[in-house]
Amino acid sequence: EKAGYKHFMAKEIAEQPVVLGDALRHYLKADGVNLPEELNFSDIDRLTLVACGTAFYACSVAKYWFESLAGLPCEIDVASEFRYREPPLPQRSFALFVSQSGETADTLAALRHCKGKVARTIAVVNVPTSSIAREADLALPILAGIEVGVASTKAFTCQLLALAVMALKAGLDRGHLNAAQAAAHMNTLRTLPGLMNAALATSDEIARLAAQLAEAQDILFLGRGPMYPLALEGALKLKEISYIHAEGYASGELKHGPIALIDRSVPVIVMAPHDKLFDKTVSNMQEVMARQGKVLLVTDAKGVSTAAEGTWAHLHMPEVAEPFAPILYALPAQLLAYHTAIAKGTDVDQPRNLAKSVTVE
Ligand code: F6R
Repeated sequence: EKAGYKHFMAKEIAEQPVVLGDALRHYLKADGVNLPEELNFSDIDRLTLVACGTAFYACSVAKYWFESLAGLPCEIDVASEFRYREPPLPQRSFALFVSQSGETADTLAALRHCKGKVARTIAVVNVPTSSIAREADLALPILAGIEVGVASTKAFTCQLLALAVMALKAGLDRGHLNAAQAAAHMNTLRTLPGLMNAALATSDEIARLAAQLAEAQDILFLGRGPMYPLALEGALKLKEISYIHAEGYASGELKHGPIALIDRSVPVIVMAPHDKLFDKTVSNMQEVMARQGKVLLVTDAKGVSTAAEGTWAHLHMPEVAEPFAPILYALPAQLLAYHTAIAKGTDVDQPRNLAKSVTVE
């Protein structure tokens, strides 16, 4: 069942180029995006995205995409908070629920809370027969295949892909993107399986770095723009399987508090493609280095040539056009968690205290 891999998590990380390719073929056709016509964003003033855990971080990345590609105001929240805070739900809005299992109790309750109040409830799920898929007005599959490892990996990147395609449709529906711009973004998405193969090739190098990361008490992840929620996801993945305390921060927030934690014992993982925000992130990274923090820079060739000097280590990712880098950089984040957990000898597929499907609130 593990197809020669030691753990389901390793298998599921490695499968991503293939499953993402399947999802791409389903959602992108030669003549454009393949999404139901009823999913039309032109008369919508707001999108509310609700989920838990890793699925919430997928929503958090998607907020950047819906805003920048479609000019659509977005609200995101974790399901356990959303339903208790009496959020206004305008009729001219969609509410979108992301869940791998489709059975998460808080997400299901949030969906029930929204039904009938918004124009449409939409589920983005991996299990098409699940409660959340059945109860939503419209259910979209992420097509990741069965995910066994408790730590979500391929479901996360496939959630991101489904949300990216939706953001492109929203951009077209709302006249925020023209056909040529949308086609360019679709071509970027189509490059991802190949780029993911190159990202997976850093696995051995990550395993070597992980031997040292496994000694740390605390590890920070930094990112900016759509890479910020990816920093949160990297920290979640690491803590859930290696039990090392980890936090993700927006790079610019560092100086507002967390920098007090930095000394030579704290590794800081900076997820930063060479995008328009790169220089700002590098200056935050240099603040860490000035305090002897141990920086691991994850970036592309341009990033390596301009900023890798003086870091503890760097990982070289292939170049990917904005704004879809989080889909690619998820892989080194997953591999860092996986190899660090292996170095510590923890049970990566069945971490303590965690269940694959959380059906209690
Ligand atoms: C993290 C993880 C959890 C789930 C969360 C939501 O690796 O697996 O944080 O993402 O429990 O689960 P679903 O997506 O099934 O609603």
